[in-house]
Amino acid sequence: MEFTLSGTCIIGLQWGDEAKGKMVDLLSQNHDLVVRYQGGANAGHTVVVGDDVYKLHLIPSGIIHPTVLNVIAPGVVINPATILAEIQSLIERGMNLEGRLVMSQRAHVVCPWHVEEDKLDESLQDDQENIGTTLRGIGPCYRDKVGRKYALRLIDLIQDGLADKVERIVAYKQKILNALSPSPPALDSQAITAELVEQGQQLKPLIADTNHLVLDAVAQGKSILFEGAQGALLDIDHGTFPYVTSSNSSGVGVCAGSGVPPRWINKVIGIAKAYSTRVGGGPFPTELHCETGQVIRDIGKEYGTTTGRPRRCGWFDAVAVRYTSRLSGVNSVSLMMLDVLSELDEIKICTAYKIDGEITENMPADTETLRRAEPVYQTLPGWKVDVSQMEHFDELPENAVNYINTISELLKTPIEFVSVGPDRQQTIKCKNAPVVA
Ligand code: IMP
Repeated sequence: MEFTLSGTCIIGLQWGDEAKGKMVDLLSQNHDLVVRYQGGANAGHTVVVGDDVYKLHLIPSGIIHPTVLNVIAPGVVINPATILAEIQSLIERGMNLEGRLVMSQRAHVVCPWHVEEDKLDESLQDDQENIGTTLRGIGPCYRDKVGRKYALRLIDLIQDGLADKVERIVAYKQKILNALSPSPPALDSQAITAELVEQGQQLKPLIADTNHLVLDAVAQGKSILFEGAQGALLDIDHGTFPYVTSSNSSGVGVCAGSGVPPRWINKVIGIAKAYSTRVGGGPFPTELHCETGQVIRDIGKEYGTTTGRPRRCGWFDAVAVRYTSRLSGVNSVSLMMLDVLSELDEIKICTAYKIDGEITENMPADTETLRRAEPVYQTLPGWKVDVSQMEHFDELPENAVNYINTISELLKTPIEFVSVGPDRQQTIKCKNAPVVA
């Protein structure tokens, strides 16, 4: 399969877990660099190559291709223990990472207190539904980044003065934990410093000023693939707040997180599943609480890569995806996991919401309003044929093509790829996709 792309972004258009890792892996072969620019180890990107399955949390999915330089940009929050374990596991599988992975000095560090604070925040019961975070300390780390006073960046791990910084931060964090936690953990600033120093030394050869590196690559005409994590509906500014992650996971986050200005971005591919899933709390208008939801969960193996939690499953929501597709400036969509729907007699697509008696095709900004949204469905016949071994668009059954085209029309965006299974081979280029942009 031929892909000719450069300066391209891969953006999840739903609530994450859209199988972005597969598309990043597939498109990496035509790019010099793959850049991760937001989120942290809350992400779980799965790449399947034949019998090999790689589960990545922090390392960009381009790492599977030996010629690609993988960059973790300033907008990512890095847990040093997690990334070291990930590096180790790839080396043990025989991968040579020499000169192929670099991470920004500016990236913020997820520290032990962040994980404790995340657990604490999720355990405190009040009258608000829990966010249902991944408990990876992501929110507390970004909170400290914005607060500035109690934050550590990767550069701090390899410079003098770390012990003083950790001691000051630990003194502050311990007070918070003591005040709020029913069983506060004791933070040992000396032990934490020793661990961070050790981790910093191990990571030192990989830590660089990625801003210059990436901008130099742009100046040299190299092609870059920007790998988004989570999905646009979880965007801190534009998603279903407060049931979101703490970074800009829609297309608008690429420039801020990577340090690459908008003029160098020339294509955005939106990734959407052929149905919807969500983990954690928050409104989900097309959620299925019936047997069909369980069928989708079982066939799609809809259990979190990072936390193992069962994912909530529902019909494709064209209102939500049209919104995130516009927000992210999507040129084309990759429709993933079409094979999962093959057993269903009929399939529904949400085309509008009915809210307080009014029909709207626009996603409301307010979460409580979204909770009241009743989906208006278009029902399509299923195709009832295994599509997982099909390689060409013309092989797909008529009802599957009809489903793809209906989504394309509702999104007003061409569908460029359809994925019918986890392997690289199970990807169909939609030559005949209608161009409706
Ligand atoms: P956090 O990012 O761990 O703070 O979690 C905030 C919300 O985002 C929760 O609902 C998580 O389930 C969700 N979330 C975070 N990362 C991912 C992901 O990679 N896939 C799907 N959902 C995610």
